[in-house]
Amino acid sequence: MSALSAPDFDFVSSLAYSQAAIILEPGKEYLVEARLTPLAQREGFTDLSAFIAAMRKDRSPGPLQAKAVDALTTNETYFFRDFHPFDAMRRALVPELIEKRADSRKLTIWCAACSTGQEPYSIAMLLREHFPQLASWQIEIIATDFSPTVLVQAQAGRYNQIEVNRGLPAPFLIKYFTQQNGAWVIKPEIRQMVQFKALNLVQPWPILPPCDFVFIRNVMIYFNVETKRAILKKLRLCLRPHGSLFLGSSETTLNLDPHWAPVTQGATVVYRPAPAAAAAA
Ligand SMILES: C[S@@+](CC[C@H](N)C(=O)[O-])C[C@H]1O[C@@H](n2cnc3c(N)ncnc32)[C@H](O)[C@@H]1O
Repeated sequence: MSALSAPDFDFVSSLAYSQAAIILEPGKEYLVEARLTPLAQREGFTDLSAFIAAMRKDRSPGPLQAKAVDALTTNETYFFRDFHPFDAMRRALVPELIEKRADSRKLTIWCAACSTGQEPYSIAMLLREHFPQLASWQIEIIATDFSPTVLVQAQAGRYNQIEVNRGLPAPFLIKYFTQQNGAWVIKPEIRQMVQFKALNLVQPWPILPPCDFVFIRNVMIYFNVETKRAILKKLRLCLRPHGSLFLGSSETTLNLDPHWAPVTQGATVVYRPAPAAAAAA
């Protein structure tokens, strides 16, 4: 039986929704307990219900509430996750843009919901490894997330052995990381290619430069249909012509936003603004 009372669960799920649009349906009590109990202990509370009682008195959104929502985010990620999107970039999408952007010599990539940084660093390593001709281009990789905790690790570019064993080819580990006190730290040449910033996808976005690639993978699964639609609509304004939107392998724009068209690229699907006529149909 759950140690979490129904009113306490309702309070926490309303908080997660109001702050980050994260949906916690009934049945997720175990997840709330698993994520908030260690936080409650670290904050010096005797148990989870005492912590939730204190959060109820916190101003909204107060420091305890902010820490709780941060702890409720799911941060699962790994290097070159799902492989095929990166393969499509290497084989087709980056070569296409090298041609299309030959005049401006500038590429801008946004990783929305970057978690601990493996996704933007994978992109940076891919560009560095396979496209030496981009060395003289302006490459901007903007990586954002809601969670301050993941951004601290992402910014440090510091990973343990298990993290570098997940998805990172051994030659990349040797070439782009150094070992420091038992951890693997990304080299400055890759670290400097990525700018990390806090950004909550369900609050007004700061001004972002027009992007050639937007990665927004494995985050909209936590949102309801209205939130997904609102984000997909805003993303339409972010992409430059010939740019591509990448979603997670279980995510799609289908039945959400007809203004995006799926484009099969090798073994993956990317999304591009649909031709106006099709979108209006
Ligand atoms: C499962 S991770 C996905 C990481 C990476 N994109 C990948 O596919 O490997 C989801 C990330 O979304 C972030 N997130 C959740 N709600 C968010 C919100 N409202 N705004 C921005 N990021 C959010 C979480 O903090 C978490 O780091």
